[in-house]
Amino acid sequence: MDDLSAPIPQRILRPLTESAIFLVLTIDEGGEDGVREVLDGFTGTLRTVRSRIIEADLGCVAGIGARAWSRLFSGPAPKGLRTFPALSGKVHDAPSTPGDLLFHIRAHRMDMCFELAGQLMRQLRPFTTVQDEVHGFRYFDSRDVIGFVDGTENPEGREAQQFVLLDEDADPDFVGGSYVTVQKYVHDMDGWEQLAVEHQADAIGRHKWDNVEMDDETKPADSHTALTVIEDADGTQLKIVRDNMPFGSAAADEFGTYFIGYSRDLDVTEQMLRNMFLGDPEGTNHDRLLDFSTALTGTHFFVPALDFLDDIPPAPEDGADGGEGADGDDEPRADAGADPSGPSRSSDP
Ligand code: HEM
Repeated sequence: MDDLSAPIPQRILRPLTESAIFLVLTIDEGGEDGVREVLDGFTGTLRTVRSRIIEADLGCVAGIGARAWSRLFSGPAPKGLRTFPALSGKVHDAPSTPGDLLFHIRAHRMDMCFELAGQLMRQLRPFTTVQDEVHGFRYFDSRDVIGFVDGTENPEGREAQQFVLLDEDADPDFVGGSYVTVQKYVHDMDGWEQLAVEHQADAIGRHKWDNVEMDDETKPADSHTALTVIEDADGTQLKIVRDNMPFGSAAADEFGTYFIGYSRDLDVTEQMLRNMFLGDPEGTNHDRLLDFSTALTGTHFFVPALDFLDDIPPAPEDGADGGEGADGDDEPRADAGADPSGPSRSSDP
């Protein structure tokens, strides 16, 4: 039976919706108290909008970046929280871009996402600067704009909880929390469409129309799914939960994928990124998908449990650094994916 006293995670694990808005903000100097107040009322704001059309199933996950943590809260910081490490491969780069707050808003209807984004921005505008706002949409049968079904191999149910949520072993101060990484990609659609469909499939490692995975003998080593399948030292596969959404502007000839990946350990996501950008083995190849996809942003956040947001710690004393672990310079931890037992409840705020 579930432990009813365990902290309740934010609503990370849910099926993909038709619409999403991704908001990334930085906190202006002196804006910390204002932001704390908005975070304090966050679940109330979400309830206010969601209850207007319950069947739209509005949800919002709030994340906090490494540089913001010690500005906002006293006490310990999440052990693994750090800034996104920029990667420079032989051919492609992954930039690291600023972000103190992430709001991953999703619903079956864009009007609900937009209403919540509007209410949050009305509250946050005096204290923050918007770094990025992306409106994502479902494209046919959950395909990305390059035409492939995206999200197939996501872990589900208890397996997803184990790969995404922190337990006592991972970080006793932040049980029920999670880490999330976002990257905004734009695609070279002209180049992609010039590729024969079978070569597009080679880049992904799955067939395009029926979404069937290539077998190991035919899947190229530089395909996206060959490079993002990673294992721990015991040969157990390490997974993340992805909620990518297509976005774009027809007028601006912009066709994009907003990558968003949740994990219990940023080492796992970073290893996938290293394989994609630096190659596996390092220096020998890179993800073929990157020849048609450019990363414009890259930011890590921590997603605290709902209990944390409902009772946020006191503000740091002036000049205090708010504890260890979130200064952006931490070494990655070495226990990626160890003991994946975790809290098993998730609830709507
Ligand atoms: C799989 C698209 C970026 C991690 C896939 C699949 C597609 C896809 C079509 C195959 C179906 C599926 O299992 O979902 C994209 C696009 C991206 C992108 C268009 C951005 C341009 C990333 C990034 C990561 C990642 C940045 C990791 C940091 C994965 C993983 C899988 C996957 C773990 C599942 C592999 C497996 O178990 O077979 N992606 N992806 N993807 N992607 Fe991505």
